[in-house]
This record gives sequence, structure tokens and C-alpha cells, in this order.
Amino acid sequence: MKNILIIGAQGQIGSELTTELRKKYGHKHVICSDVRMPSHEVLNDLSPFERLDVTNVERIAQVVKKYKIDTIYHLPAILSAVAEEKPQIAWNIGINGLYNVLEVARESNCAVFFPSSIGAFGPTTPPDNTPQDVIQRPDTMYGVTKVAGELLCDYYHKRFGVDTRGVRFPGIISYVTLPGGGTTDYAVEIFYEAIKHQKYHCPLKAGTYLDMMYMPDALNAAISIMEADPSRLVHRNGFNVTAMSFEPETIAAEIRKHIPGFKMEYHNDPIRQAIADTWPNSMDDSCAREEWSWNPEFNLEKMTIDMLEKVAVKLK
Ligand code: SER
Repeated sequence: MKNILIIGAQGQIGSELTTELRKKYGHKHVICSDVRMPSHEVLNDLSPFERLDVTNVERIAQVVKKYKIDTIYHLPAILSAVAEEKPQIAWNIGINGLYNVLEVARESNCAVFFPSSIGAFGPTTPPDNTPQDVIQRPDTMYGVTKVAGELLCDYYHKRFGVDTRGVRFPGIISYVTLPGGGTTDYAVEIFYEAIKHQKYHCPLKAGTYLDMMYMPDALNAAISIMEADPSRLVHRNGFNVTAMSFEPETIAAEIRKHIPGFKMEYHNDPIRQAIADTWPNSMDDSCAREEWSWNPEFNLEKMTIDMLEKVAVKLK
């Protein structure tokens, strides 16, 4: 029986991954942790819950021992735009936090999931149909931590046999927990604004193509890669995964099919635009498809219908 620890359980991915993993492995086999103590109400839902700061290696080791953890989903991160404001903190959490988790995993024989990102690519990466194995020279702190994280995970597997696995997530669109401080956040905000005000001020320029994915597919990717038959894996970390690629006009047009009066204006955010300009327009995820049968379910059309419905209920 698996005993799973989710680190960053209150984040955009963690909050929904908790529910999915508990459905699969049973409530008490999935332990939640986060640097922030949840509110009383949320604590009841997340329990068993441990307050845990990834920069404290002893605390990680203590929680892993207490619950006999064998699999860690390591999700804490400072997203790309905030990481440019606070690069030192982004490094500390992104790199030192991951290093601590890998050290505990080595000592306690845990498997580790590490989410890398489209941010692991940079301005010299070919932007269209970006291959799995290609030049990665990111020029953002977020990207530096993600590419170094991929390499560190590969190293711990090769050198110490730690079962590290991971994917390069695109922008993740969801309605349960808001992302915070990412370059791709606009693709979430647009739904809230479309329903509330029929109007959105987009921080990215028209024509800025980026890969995106709806949360159910992201959860499926994180769980499937950890369950994949290791004999099929040629790669282990940083698998390209994508479900759709669009630019702001494309998603606005899709929303307009349901909210005909929806208007979009552009208020360029130079930090987010500069970051987005160095990321791929679209990734090639054929290695994930071949090595662990990755296959997303939601395209833009299907996701838009579901998001509009769920966000409307939430805002009532
Ligand atoms: N969603 C992330 C960001 O925009 C990308 O991985 O920072």
C-alpha cells in the first residue's frame, strides 16, 4: 500500500491532487502538508495535515518517518512573475527545497514527483513544436530553478537510484484554487472576469501563443507518470505534456461563443510579456505519449464549457 505525502497541498495543483489521490489510494494514505496552516474548515478536509516548510530538512524527514511515506509529490514553487520580484526566495524554495526533499527521499527510499514547466525553456529554444530534448537556457529565476530541478532529479536517480519522475507542465487552468503570480494566470482570470464583468484586461499581447492544460488532465499526468511501468521510461523527468496551445484572442473567441457580449482589452504587463516571449508556442509531447501513454481529454472547447459552468456556480 502506498503512503503519499503532498507538499504544497493548499496550492493550485495540490488542493485538487489531494482529492484525486485520496479517491485512488484511500483517505488516510494521503498526507497533506503546506507551509501555511489552513483555516479551521479547510483543515478538516485536508486532515491528516502537517505544517511543513521545505527549507527545513529535519521536519521533512520527521513527517516522512511518522507516516511511513513512500511517495512524495513535491509541489511548492514561486511562480514565474513573482519569482522575478523575489528571485532569492524563488531559489531557496525551488532549489534548496527540492534538494532537501531529494535527500530525505534518498535516505527513506521514497519516489518523488517533481513538476517542471514550460518555463524550463528559454529564448534560444525552438518555439514551435518544441522537442523533448532540446536546448534549455531559461533567463528567468523560475526557469533556472525548473531546469536545475530536472537535472537534480535525473542525478538522484542515476547516482542514488531515487525513483524521481516528472513532467513539464504548461499553464494550468482550474476553478478550485487560483494560481498566484504566474505568466499563464490570465487564462484562469479571463473566466472569472467574463462571468463577473463580461470584460477582461489581458496582460499579454494578442498573438502570444502558450501551451495550456485543464486541471483534470494535469492531475491525470501527475498520477500516471508515477504509476508508469519504469521499464518503458526512456526519460524520467521533465516530460513535455500539453493539451492545447492558444493565444489570448483564441480563448476570448471561445468564451464569446457562450457570452456574446464579452470584450477584451490589452493592458500589457511588461514582466509577464517578456517571460511569455521566451517560452514555447507549442510543445511536442510525443515522448510522454509513447513512454507512458499520455493522452489529454480536454481541448479548448470542452474546457471552456466546463470552466464557465463551474466558475458561474462558484461566483453565485
Ligand atoms: N504557470 C506557470 C507560470 O506561469 C508556468 O509553469 O509561472
